[in-house]
Order: sequence, then C-alpha cells, then structure tokens
Amino acid sequence: MSTAAIIPAAGLGLRLGGENYKAFREVGGDSLLVHAVRGLKAATAADLVCLVVAVPPGFEESVAKELEPYAGDARLLVVPGGAERPDSVRAALDVVPADGIDCILVHDAARAFVPADVVERVVAAVRGGAPAVVPVVPVTDTIKQVSPTGEVVDTPDRSTLVAVQTPQGFEPGVLRRAHAAGIVGATDDAMMCERLGVPVMTVEGSQDAFKVTRPQDLLLAEAMLAERRL
Ligand code: CTP
Ligand code: MG
Repeated sequence: MSTAAIIPAAGLGLRLGGENYKAFREVGGDSLLVHAVRGLKAATAADLVCLVVAVPPGFEESVAKELEPYAGDARLLVVPGGAERPDSVRAALDVVPADGIDCILVHDAARAFVPADVVERVVAAVRGGAPAVVPVVPVTDTIKQVSPTGEVVDTPDRSTLVAVQTPQGFEPGVLRRAHAAGIVGATDDAMMCERLGVPVMTVEGSQDAFKVTRPQDLLLAEAMLAERRL
C-alpha cells in the first residue's frame, strides 16, 4: 500500500505579489514548498513512496537539490509546470509510476501547513474504497450568488456548503482518467472527477491547511509557525 504525492508549485503568486514565485516564498526560514513536503512526509501512515513536484520551468534542478534532504526514502521527481494549475498537475501525473501505487495525492504547495492527520484521513478514505476524497471545513461567511450586474440572486443554505482544501486523494486510475478526459474549467481535480460522474467523498480538513493566497496570509503563517515551534 503506497502513496504518490503531486505538488503543484509552479504558480506565479500574483495575488500574493512580491519578487519571487509563491512556492519559494519563505516563512520561518523555509520555503512554502519545503513546509509542504515536510507536512506530507509527517503523515507516516500515508506510506509516501513517490513525490512529484511541478515547478516554474528552469527551476527543476535547484528545487530537486533543495528538496532532496526532505524527501527521505521517497523517490523525488521535479518537472516543469504548465500555464495553469491543471497543466502542472498533468505534467506531474505523467511521471507518477504506473505500478505499486494505491493512492495519488494532489497537494498545493500553497497549503504548506496541512497537519498530518488531515493527510492520513484522506489516504485512509481512498484505501477504504472512495475513488476521490477531499478535505473540507465549514464555511464561515454567508455566501451569495450574484448576477453579472452585482445583484444578489440567491443565498444558498450555509449548512450545505463547505470550503475544500488539499491534499485531495484519488484512486490512481480515476485521476488519470479525469486528466485524460480533456475537461476544461475545472478549478480542482475533484471537480474533474465529478464531471465524469465519479463520487467524491469528504473528510474533515483543518483551519491550519489554509491556502497562502494574499499578503496577510503570510503573517498568519508566520504566527502559526511560531506557535507550533513553542
Ligand atoms: N500552480 C501550479 N501551476 C500553475 C498555477 C498554480 O502549479 N500554473 C500551483 C501553485 O503553485 C499553488 C497551487 O497551484 O501551489 C494553487 O494555486 P494558487 O494558490 O492560485 O497559486 P498561484 O497560481 O501561484 O497564485 P495566483 O493565482 O495568485 O497567481
Ligand atoms: Mg492561481
């Protein structure tokens, strides 16, 4: 029973701003990417045997060198990412070994602080027979659907809404089929599976698995890390 993890880390980080690619931005002295790899490795029950990271083209060698000490006995592969997130995931998926893997995780480098128990819940659900699994947390804002002119059209019942995180976990054949299907407009890998009619199961996520997106998220990350290190 072995898991492969794909880490899309090739995004520009436009909403975060700054001089560097988002995955290379540092919190507490380490890059978000290093934190993300550590987080996956900490989930020992996942049996991570292969780690594929999609990085901005040209950074393959330097990232491989940087991550080697953190990969441990997992095989580390670094590939150039693509223009959009699904392109980066697909580039990584193409080099995931075909044999000996019973679960593929897709985990954003930007969700650098995911706790090990979230990763392990996702993997356990896939091993338990769920073809696609996403960690979720309750929505705290009231969400409204609005028209193109800004008028409120509807207020969905909040108790039926959740926010979705990563790692998302997949039975390998399902993820490969989803990415081969040429689906456009899917904002995550689970949505591709939904489009194919594959049931997607939820497990409990964590507030700590928030996505570093905007500048204030870096402040939150610094504070959270400082508390963890106490
Ligand atoms: N990602 C990627 N390849 C892309 C775009 C995004 O691998 N072409 C990765 C990012 O590096 C990140 C994850 O997908 O780890 C989630 O994307 P997001 O949070 O949107 O990051 P960015 O696209 O970098 O940020 P922004 O949208 O603000 O530019
Ligand atoms: Mg983006």
